[in-house]
Amino acid sequence: MKDQLEKIKQEFLEGLKEIKDTLQLEELKNEFFSRKSGKVNEVMKVLKDLAGDAKKEFGVLVNEFKMEMEMNLAKKKSELDKEKMGNLVDEEGIDVTEPKLPLYEGGHLHPITIVQNELEDLFTSMGFMILDGPELESEYYNFEAVNIPADHPARDMQDTFYIKNHANWVMRTHTSTMQARSMQKYGAPLRMIVPGKCFRNEATDVRHEHTFYQLEGMVIDKNITFGDMKGILETVAKHLYGKDTKVKLRPKFYPFVEPGVNGEVTCYLCKGLGCRLCKGTGWLEIFGAGMTHPNVIKEGGLDPNVYQGFAFGFGLTRLVMLKYGIDDIRLLESGDLRFLKQF
Ligand code: DAH
Repeated sequence: MKDQLEKIKQEFLEGLKEIKDTLQLEELKNEFFSRKSGKVNEVMKVLKDLAGDAKKEFGVLVNEFKMEMEMNLAKKKSELDKEKMGNLVDEEGIDVTEPKLPLYEGGHLHPITIVQNELEDLFTSMGFMILDGPELESEYYNFEAVNIPADHPARDMQDTFYIKNHANWVMRTHTSTMQARSMQKYGAPLRMIVPGKCFRNEATDVRHEHTFYQLEGMVIDKNITFGDMKGILETVAKHLYGKDTKVKLRPKFYPFVEPGVNGEVTCYLCKGLGCRLCKGTGWLEIFGAGMTHPNVIKEGGLDPNVYQGFAFGFGLTRLVMLKYGIDDIRLLESGDLRFLKQF
């Protein structure tokens, strides 16, 4: 048996000498080591007929033989590899000329996230906290807590998604829901913004979408004035559209503020001259704001005789559309890569 092994070994080594490429090497490996018909396995069949020391001895012999063969195979393989690659392979075996894989086409931030991040940076630099709030919200926080009682006509201004079989729950129609929540949680003084998704049950068209983004803000402290509010809003407007941007505030009713205003800024495209973007007015309407209503401060658990403040709500989606000249709001939530790849 020993002789038989020796014979196979010689045969194998002879064969190895003739090998010119890795394919031939594979074939040789099969010839000797394949499970079914390999020459080595043929010899090993004898093993099961042996017993005791003879079996052990032969086992050791076969293993040593196999190990030696494997080493020879590996050596030959690395010789062949080197030959093939010439000196293109460095010491670590890395082929420096190998063409690189096509670059993984990574994703990137959604345009809404880009503008949101930009505003978050600005507001944090002014000492605002950034808060997040629930999108599925109680009617209380969406309406009552911001001074919109059940029978108030203002509820009709916001077409609300109600939740089937779950009375008193809604998909939040605005981020103002966080006004009372944040006062209740953090008290005063308070400086916070809440960027986030809002939902309205609207027929969609180029300007209306059931899902859109707002950015709410609130400041509560002692001795807060309308001037403080204007200062913050002007800072935001200049940050967004340049230092010559002017802010125009016009009275507008919102139940949670008194007085309430509608905020417009100089159209960044025509610089106020009037163009298609601003529909010839020279102004772009981008936010609502006002001095926080005492009822809302009370809902927040604070004393309106001690604390005042203001709140504002930017149409974040609108800011994004203005910034990039997007004329159909529905593209933003469409997930259409042809659209998204442009940013
Ligand atoms: N919540 C209002 C809306 O969805 C936007 C708004 C207006 C927010 C005035 C405010 C505000 O905080 O003071 O239309």
